[in-house]
Amino acid sequence: MKIIDNIKELKEEINKLKGSIGLVPTMGALHDGHLSLIKKSVMQNENTIVSIFVNPIQFGVNEDLDKYPRQLKQDASLCEKEGVNIIFAPKVSEMYSCEKNNLTLICPPYEVVDKLCGKSRPGHFDGVCSVVAKLFNLTKATRAYFGQKDAQQLFIVKKMVKDLNFDIEIVPCPIVREEDNLALSSRNQYLTENDRKLALNISKALFNIKKLFKEGISDIKVLIDASLKIMDGLDVEYIEFVDKNTFDFQTKVDRNTLVLIAARVPESKTRLIDNIDIWE
Ligand code: PAF
Repeated sequence: MKIIDNIKELKEEINKLKGSIGLVPTMGALHDGHLSLIKKSVMQNENTIVSIFVNPIQFGVNEDLDKYPRQLKQDASLCEKEGVNIIFAPKVSEMYSCEKNNLTLICPPYEVVDKLCGKSRPGHFDGVCSVVAKLFNLTKATRAYFGQKDAQQLFIVKKMVKDLNFDIEIVPCPIVREEDNLALSSRNQYLTENDRKLALNISKALFNIKKLFKEGISDIKVLIDASLKIMDGLDVEYIEFVDKNTFDFQTKVDRNTLVLIAARVPESKTRLIDNIDIWE
């Protein structure tokens, strides 16, 4: 496995590769969720590249860019075990030669970003799309693997690929959960013991919605009220019902419903997201 930190060497190595290339874009601090994407890529492709880059242009001014966990050594040993061929871990200056406001960015349309996570994180998805597009170009990947936990990100990346005719297949991968159903996230490292207990109520609320829906309750207000009761003590940023194919808000639950939650835990103020497909 090669660990590469510059674009020149990456291009040279990519040109030597034979067969399909799977790309797993990450910001590092790899957990079993990332490993599930890596395993899938290794299974489906002759070559797998994992990018590890804490992308500054997708963080807002008051977000956790500085404290975001960086653990390249540990990540590299996990990647090596999974059979990854290349880790691309560039410095910020290698990826961006100037400040965000002087860069050519890919900005998804207002109607897909002015909701859910995009609403409280203005500019976030411009940063995500721009870095993902650069990684697609640099790696010439055949397929790229994204987790369904970041459902809005996955939707927006798929749309970018379609709108801009990127020659790449986007492979969605299911959410990986702890035994008690907490969705895996690199940000779970920030949680205090008490936060972690309270954070469990996010997935509890989602699984409860699914259960109530199966029992015949489809009134969104009733489902939201029940969820907010379960999430008492959390600072709920949103709980929304969207059509998973369009990301349009729904007024009635149906088999295309995806329920999404973002909430902050009280002690570490960590912002967590999770979602559930009501029909799966
Ligand atoms: O999901 C993430 O970790 C990031 O948003 C991504 C896709 C690696 C882009 O920086």
